[in-house]
Amino acid sequence: MSNLNLKTVTLAITGASGAQYGLRLMECLLAADYRVDVMISKAAQVVIATETDIKLPAQRADRAAFFAERYKAKEEQLRFYGLDQWLAPVASGSSIASTMVVCPCSTGSLAAISQGHSNNLIERAADVTLKEGKKLILVPRETPYSTIHLENMLKLSQMGVTILPASPGFYNKPTDIQHMIDFIVGRILDHLGVEQTIAPRWGD
Ligand SMILES: Cc1cc2nc3c(=O)[nH]c(=O)nc-3n(C[C@H](O)[C@H](O)[C@H](O)COP(=O)(O)O)c2cc1C
Repeated sequence: MSNLNLKTVTLAITGASGAQYGLRLMECLLAADYRVDVMISKAAQVVIATETDIKLPAQRADRAAFFAERYKAKEEQLRFYGLDQWLAPVASGSSIASTMVVCPCSTGSLAAISQGHSNNLIERAADVTLKEGKKLILVPRETPYSTIHLENMLKLSQMGVTILPASPGFYNKPTDIQHMIDFIVGRILDHLGVEQTIAPRWGD
């Protein structure tokens, strides 16, 4: 299968609470036949170990097979990049991915992206997405937000970035955590234009 035959999304999972949002998004994109280019920050690895039952393979090279098996996807749908892998396609404006999602997005990564730091591959890929005028969705999670966080979000929003906070609604009367995760992931999929049935729309 050629990579070019698959629609591609770049997914960065950073160290905010709510790693399950990013993992569920990966699962849904794979089920929708997307290729997903994944970066997981060091802090996100700690959060995954803390908040989920997932034992992330220590070797990055083993992660595509691990998640392909877990989510019943094809291994070639997944690429995992290290944060200092500067030669990765996502580091370049010529990357085929038209969309990047940072989910969840820590306030640290939010700040770095808003300042254009590009000090690791997640920050660089977001910077490239911005400079190329492609779609960037950030899913911040913190409470309360400081003025610094709000200013960073405002700046990015004014540049066309979608700020989609991990703030699940309750009007669908969620009965478990999965419903709350799917509320947010469903909204992200809506913004990506990916068909989804995991989060009913109001009035449906
Ligand atoms: C269990 C755990 C939960 C955390 N929750 C949050 C959070 O909700 N929001 C946040 O901005 N940072 C949170 N942090 C702190 C970030 O992980 C930390 O600021 C880190 O430097 C972010 O780095 P990264 O953006 O490279 O992932 C959490 C850390 C841990 C270990």
